[in-house]
Amino acid sequence: MPANQNSKKQTIDKEVSTSSQKVQSEGTPSSSQSREKGSSPKANRPKNSRKSKPFEKSRPKHSPQEHEPRIRTTLELLKLKGKRSIVGLTAYDALLGRLVSDAGVDFILVGDSVGTTLLGHPTTIPVTIQDMIHHTAAVRRANPDCLLVADLPFGEASLSFDRLLESARSLMQQGGADAVKIEGGRDVADDIEKLVLTGIPVLGHIGLLPQTVKAIGGYRKFGSEREEAESLYTDAIALEEAGCFALVAEMVEASVASELARQILPPLSGIGSGDGCDGQILVTPDLLGLSNGSIPSFVKPKLNLNQEISRALSEYVIDVKKRKKSPSS
Ligand code: KIV
Repeated sequence: MPANQNSKKQTIDKEVSTSSQKVQSEGTPSSSQSREKGSSPKANRPKNSRKSKPFEKSRPKHSPQEHEPRIRTTLELLKLKGKRSIVGLTAYDALLGRLVSDAGVDFILVGDSVGTTLLGHPTTIPVTIQDMIHHTAAVRRANPDCLLVADLPFGEASLSFDRLLESARSLMQQGGADAVKIEGGRDVADDIEKLVLTGIPVLGHIGLLPQTVKAIGGYRKFGSEREEAESLYTDAIALEEAGCFALVAEMVEASVASELARQILPPLSGIGSGDGCDGQILVTPDLLGLSNGSIPSFVKPKLNLNQEISRALSEYVIDVKKRKKSPSS
């Protein structure tokens, strides 16, 4: 490992974690708060009279991770390296954001995979910054109890640094993201370094870069050839030196990915890159078997939601259609 890699880590280690994003539960009105005569029920409704917050009911009471400290800052995530495996999942709306957070993940990624999983696009290329802000803000409204990272969509990192800065800022200011993810290695490292200096934490992404699918001619594994493995190493080092708090390695040859994880200081989360990484990140609909297209072969779905939902919906449709029409209607 090059000697100059230690400088950024030492700086980061000096910082102090000040995480305080706690989900507060609302109080419920006492039964003695009776309604005054003549006043409207709405005007008289005590503050916080809702029985529960919109997503409160879905929170598991006895989740296996309930005693484990949650990861809410990039520094906390960085410090997990070498302690335990990191887990990240994608989410694109408040419902999935709440469920994924309650499952105990360390970070949620609002990936531009929203384009292929939910928005019906064939690739992630048509996804816009407005789409990303919209979906990130929806996940933020679920009050996730973990780090929230949003993807910079296609083209935003290549026009100019000002455009990149503006887009990254909007994901944080309007979307409520804690950090942004940018696809690319040494080609984007200088811009990432400048972003980090402005206070925007960046998650790097190497290996298969789905935003380049038109240029590379399809999705494939990276790092099988020695030259490509070395190129991945150069990218990973460049991103570390730029100040990325963590990296994603997508579809990287397992032995190369685990060697990269050993060589760099930030944690490396793999997707389709074997078990030797510092953690794993997956596209949640793939994990749930909820897909418009095919599920990548490296994913072992925990459910077949396509099948379950289709069965439930057609049962309901058949039930309603079987009902007799009343003579008077
Ligand atoms: O957009 C996305 O979901 C991603 C993951 C595949 C890492 O970039």
